[in-house]
Amino acid sequence: MSAAAFEACIAAGGVAVFPSDTVYGLACDPENGNAVKRLHALKGRAPEKPSAVMWFALEAALDALPELGPRTRAALERLLPGPVSLVVPNPRARFPLAAGGDPASLGVRVVSVPALDGVGLPVLQTSANLAGGPDPVALDEVPASIRAGAELVLDGGRLPGTPSSVVDLRRYEESGEWAVLRAGAVAEEALREALGWEFHFDPATYAAEIREEMPLYDRLQDELVRASGSEARRILELGTGTGETAGRLLARHPDARLVGIDVSAEMLAAAASALPAERVSLRVAALEDELPPGPFDLVASALCVHHLRGREKADLFVRVAAALAPGGRFVLGDVVVPEDPAQATTPLTAGYDHPSPVAEQLAWLEEAGLSARLSWAAGDLAVIVAAAPGGAGIVGP
Ligand SMILES: C[S@@+](CC[C@H](N)C(=O)[O-])C[C@H]1O[C@@H](n2cnc3c(N)ncnc32)[C@H](O)[C@@H]1O
Repeated sequence: MSAAAFEACIAAGGVAVFPSDTVYGLACDPENGNAVKRLHALKGRAPEKPSAVMWFALEAALDALPELGPRTRAALERLLPGPVSLVVPNPRARFPLAAGGDPASLGVRVVSVPALDGVGLPVLQTSANLAGGPDPVALDEVPASIRAGAELVLDGGRLPGTPSSVVDLRRYEESGEWAVLRAGAVAEEALREALGWEFHFDPATYAAEIREEMPLYDRLQDELVRASGSEARRILELGTGTGETAGRLLARHPDARLVGIDVSAEMLAAAASALPAERVSLRVAALEDELPPGPFDLVASALCVHHLRGREKADLFVRVAAALAPGGRFVLGDVVVPEDPAQATTPLTAGYDHPSPVAEQLAWLEEAGLSARLSWAAGDLAVIVAAAPGGAGIVGP
């Protein structure tokens, strides 16, 4: 009921007083210049001040900002919905009326407010006080002039009262750096836990930790390498890490040169010292980026593709198919969603690990023009092999 009234008010260019997850807020359509002007006038706020854009569902926010990089998206997934405003890069200058003087940055809020569940529109929002006044935690603390001037006033009872934390993620994608611009409802320790760990692959401890988390790690590697056939000469590896998979692939394919990509420069530095320099070329790049130019006889990836969401995997498979030589092969060893949920034993981190069922991945590979089959599976681990049409192909098994 309130959700429908709220949406109707915003869509009609109105200004609404509403309960957020922190304090009472004022909201309007972020793309409607008149509505934004009225919101600022009701507050007595200078229009050059930036406001965050708020969504009521995370998916809607992520869909509206497709240019966010994978690390930033994962950070949003870990922290939102929640009482935190995240300032992200805004290269497309979206929502210019919310940007204040800096269209290259955007404040993003996603809240979970039961009364507004299902609201699909984003809103430009700010707290429902006069500029510089106290943050209202109950409706009667919202200045009368604001209540009288708004087209809709929603009562959500008494609210928690601590304003959102504001966190700068504008450099997070490239360097992992972040900064608290305003302390608020989310403790710094919780922010550190959500934002620091993305870079938790520590090359010094990786080999021991992965084997502890995944008792079948070495078996998965062996099965992947076995499924890679033999006599490949040009290999592309996706997510090289410290070079565990690459070392095995080079041993199996003695005449091959390998191009390895990974987002982590630290992990690749460890790989560079473990692998024969004359046979490898390592690049810091994300799987979501353009792939190194092929053609490759073999594209291989162990325990990395599950970091992509479903549609990103489907997109990667199309680019892998395009990078393969005729008859070339793609081998994928990864964590998957098993048919029996009891078999899902690999520890996963929300927002970073997105395993998909084998059947879905086989279908995406087929859609990409490859001929795909399951080569090995145990619990929630699987090795999939997909062959490109034509050519002599690489040898067996
Ligand atoms: C679990 S390790 C696997 C490394 C190696 N293939 C192995 O099996 O030991 C995952 C690697 O994927 C990298 N990674 C995660 N997301 C990525 C992405 N979107 N693009 C490229 N590399 C990514 C991480 O930096 C990490 O080095």
